[in-house]
Amino acid sequence: MRKRALITGATSGIGKEMAKYLHQAGWALVLTGRNERVLKELAAEFGEDTKYIALDLAKRGAAEELYRFCKGMRIDFLVNNAGFGVFGDFLDTKLEEELELIEVNIRSLHILTKLFLRDMVRRDSGVILNVGSIAGFATGPMLSSYYASKNYVVRMTTAIREELRRRRSNVTIGVLCPGPVNTNFNNRAGVNFSVKPADPVYVAHYAINEVMAGKCIIVPSLAVKAGIIAASLCPEPILARIIYHVQKRKER
Ligand SMILES: NC(=O)c1ccc[n+]([C@@H]2O[C@H](COP(=O)([O-])OP(=O)(O)OC[C@H]3O[C@@H](n4cnc5c(N)ncnc54)[C@H](OP(=O)(O)O)[C@@H]3O)[C@@H](O)[C@H]2O)c1
Repeated sequence: MRKRALITGATSGIGKEMAKYLHQAGWALVLTGRNERVLKELAAEFGEDTKYIALDLAKRGAAEELYRFCKGMRIDFLVNNAGFGVFGDFLDTKLEEELELIEVNIRSLHILTKLFLRDMVRRDSGVILNVGSIAGFATGPMLSSYYASKNYVVRMTTAIREELRRRRSNVTIGVLCPGPVNTNFNNRAGVNFSVKPADPVYVAHYAINEVMAGKCIIVPSLAVKAGIIAASLCPEPILARIIYHVQKRKER
C-alpha cells in the first residue's frame, strides 16, 4: 500500500511545493486549503489517488471535519502547514483577523496534531511536520500575534518530541523554521520583503528530507540558524526593538 500524506495549506507556496515533491516520491496525498479550484487542479494533475477537501481552518469544527474526512485512510505523514500573518500595530490590527490567525496557526494545528498523533502512536509509526518560523524564536512587534503563534508551534512541537522520545516511540515530529520565503505569505499580510526570500521549492524539499531523517528543528539556511542563535543570546527588550525596525521596513 502506498504511504499517504495529509498537507494543510496545499494550494500555495511551501505546502504546494511539498505536495508536488511527495507526489513525485510516490506518496498518495490528501490536500486541503480554502481554494477549491487549485485543489481540483492538483488532484487532476496527480491522479485519482489524490483526495482533497476545501476547508476554512479558521472556522470552528473544520479541523475535526478534516480528521473525519481522513478516517479509513491511513495518514503516515501529517504536514500542518496552513498559516498566515497579520501585520500592523496591535492597536490598529483587526481583532477578527487575529482571531482567525489563532484558529488557523494555533487551534487547528493543535487539534490535528493531537488527533493524528494518537493514531500514529497506536500504530507506532508516522511522521508529523509542523510549520513554524524563525518568528517562533522571538517576540515580534508589528506582527505580534503571528510571532506569538509560531512560538506556540515551536514550543509545542519540541515538547511533544521529548515525550515521544521518552516513550521510545517510532513516531517522529519536527518543526520547520524558515526565514522569509518567496510565497503568497507577504501579499496576504500586506507587506514587502526586507531581505532576499528563500525559494519555496528548496525549503519544501529540505524540510521533508530533514523531518524524514528524524530532525526536530528544521532551519533551511545558515543565515536563519545564525539569526536564531543571536536571538537566544539577545535580551528580550533589545530583541523587540531590533525586530520592530526589521518589520517596520516591510511596511507598504
Ligand atoms: N513565506 C514566508 O516568509 C514564511 C516564513 C516562515 C514560515 N512561513 C509559514 O509557512 C506556512 C505556509 O505559508 P506560505 O509561505 O507558503 O504562504 P502562502 O503561499 O500564503 O500559503 C499559505 C497556505 O495556507 C493556507 N491557508 C491560509 N489560511 C487558511 C485558512 N483559513 N484555512 C485553510 N487554509 C488556509 C492557504 O490556502 P488557501 O488560501 O487556499 O486557504 C495556503 O495554501 C505558513 O504556516 C507560514 O506561517 C512562511
